[in-house]
Order: sequence, then structure tokens, then C-alpha cells
Amino acid sequence: MQIQEEIEKLKQEKNAVILAHYYVNEEVQAIADYVGDSFYLSKAAAKSDADVILFAGVSFMGESAKILSPDKTVLMADGQADCPMAHMVTLEEIEKVRTQYEDLAVVCYINSTAEIKTASDVCVTSANAVKIVSRLPQKNIFFIPDKNLGAYVAEQVPQKNVILCSGYCPVHNHVTKEAVKAAKAAHPGAEFLVHPECPAEVLGLADYIGSTSGIIQYATESTKREFIIGTVTGVFYELQQKNPDKAFYPIEPEMICTDMILVTLEKVRQALACGCNEVSVVERVKEGSLPPLDRMLKLAE
Ligand code: 13P
Ligand code: SF4
Repeated sequence: MQIQEEIEKLKQEKNAVILAHYYVNEEVQAIADYVGDSFYLSKAAAKSDADVILFAGVSFMGESAKILSPDKTVLMADGQADCPMAHMVTLEEIEKVRTQYEDLAVVCYINSTAEIKTASDVCVTSANAVKIVSRLPQKNIFFIPDKNLGAYVAEQVPQKNVILCSGYCPVHNHVTKEAVKAAKAAHPGAEFLVHPECPAEVLGLADYIGSTSGIIQYATESTKREFIIGTVTGVFYELQQKNPDKAFYPIEPEMICTDMILVTLEKVRQALACGCNEVSVVERVKEGSLPPLDRMLKLAE
């Protein structure tokens, strides 16, 4: 039996669904029930009526799925796949900023630990951060942990005073304006589509800035034929599936998330078969991190 058939059989036996992020390997995206950006996947987890959710992604995604669907068993395909940015802010930093401003909302990018979410007012993803921040009543916004997404939100919502943190995504933060200029010189007819986790100087050269889903949607609806893509190359699978007649060029050849690519078909099969890598979130953290995640789902509507 082929591994894909084995996974299908295990899914039926366990009443399981597979959720995969656009950054994981394409053969895993191909067998997933839901493939999407962080926002789409958190909504899919909240709505799912399966008994088991197998997450092909990194740990903050599995944690969020467990918090939003506490009665389900959530398994990680790879128990070690983690987002380094999720650990780039501390509870102490949040406490300190809270003492400095009365009228403050702590806005937490979903790429964060569940513990950090407990100290936050609302979660956001790259797909809804601008909308949610603009809808908050507070004037002062402590945006954690991504400094680049925070700076982009600050620019888009100038009526707010956005306080930035020092976190970043090692993959997106690495992109330079020189790389963009070189890619544009090599592909003069191409549009440049970029994820807001990149630095401001890179965003300043973009034709479109958005989440992974946003980038895919923009390219699919565009009448242009060529695109330079400023995000992890995992998105190329869906871009090519939806647009077989268009050309996509990575902004850098090695734009790979070393955690996302830990997820393989064999690990998906293994986790489903043994029920291993189960996500557990202690009760206090579950209770404290549900309100900011719920608020995100409501405010993004
Ligand atoms: P999306 O919110 O676009 O899925 O991005 C998640 C992420 O980890 C980007 O690096
Ligand atoms: Fe984290 Fe960056 Fe990987 Fe996204 S691409 S999961 S932000 S390390």
C-alpha cells in the first residue's frame, strides 16, 4: 500500500482531519484536508467536527488548534517543529509596557506561545492584523512579537501609537532590498508580492503586501504573468496549482522555513498511527489564551 493510502485509511479509522500550512512540503499539502494560512487554519480547527486534528505545521498552530477545539485530540506531525519568533517576547516585557500606558491593548501575533497569549488582549494573524488593530478602542498598541509586521501595521493604521517589540522571523527578516532589486532586474516584467514579516525597506518595493493566502489570491486574480515571491517557497505549490500558466520566482533561492520542512508524509503517517506528539495545554494557559483567540475570530469578521 502506498503511504498516501495508508494515511487515508488511518484518517478514516480515527475520524481525523489533516490541517497543513502552505509552508510544509508539497506532498503533505497534497494529502491535507485543509491547506491555508494561519488564520484559515485556526478557523478550520475551531469548526472541525473530527475527533482528531493532525497538524502539519509548527507548534503555535497546534497549540491554537487545541485551545480553540479543547475536546479534540490534536497531534503534531513533527513534535519538534517550532517557530523561533514565537519565543521572542517575554511576560516581563508585556508587564513593563502595561505599567507605562493606561490606554493599552497588547496585540499578539498568533506566532507566539500560548503562555504569551494569556497576557495579551487580542491575537492577530498577518491576514487580519491591520483590520483588527484599526477596530480596537485603545490608542496605544503593544504589538508582539514581530517588529516587522508591527511596523507595517503602524504605517497602515497611523491613528494608533504602536509600540514595537524586537522579535522577527529569521527567514523573512533576512530579505534585503538589494535582493529585491536584483530579482526585479532579472525579471523586469514581474510584480513583487511579499509577506509583511519582511523588513520595511523590502515592503517599500512591493506591488502587494499580504499573508500567504493573500499572496496566492493576488497572483491568481492578477492579469500579470510573472511574479517575484517574497515568502517561504512552500507557497509555490499552491501558486502553481492555481496558476499553471504563470511564472513564479523566489526572492531568494533558499527561502525555506527549517521548522516547517521537518514535516514529512512519513511523520504524518507515524503520528496518526501511534497517536503521538499529542498537544497538551495546561488548564490555566488554555483558559487564559482562549479569550484573545476568540476576540480575533470575532473582530476579523
Ligand atoms: P501566514 O499568516 O501568512 O500563514 O504566515 C504565517 C507565518 O508563519 C509566516 O512566516
Ligand atoms: Fe516562524 Fe518564520 Fe517559519 Fe513562519 S517562516 S513559522 S514566522 S520561522
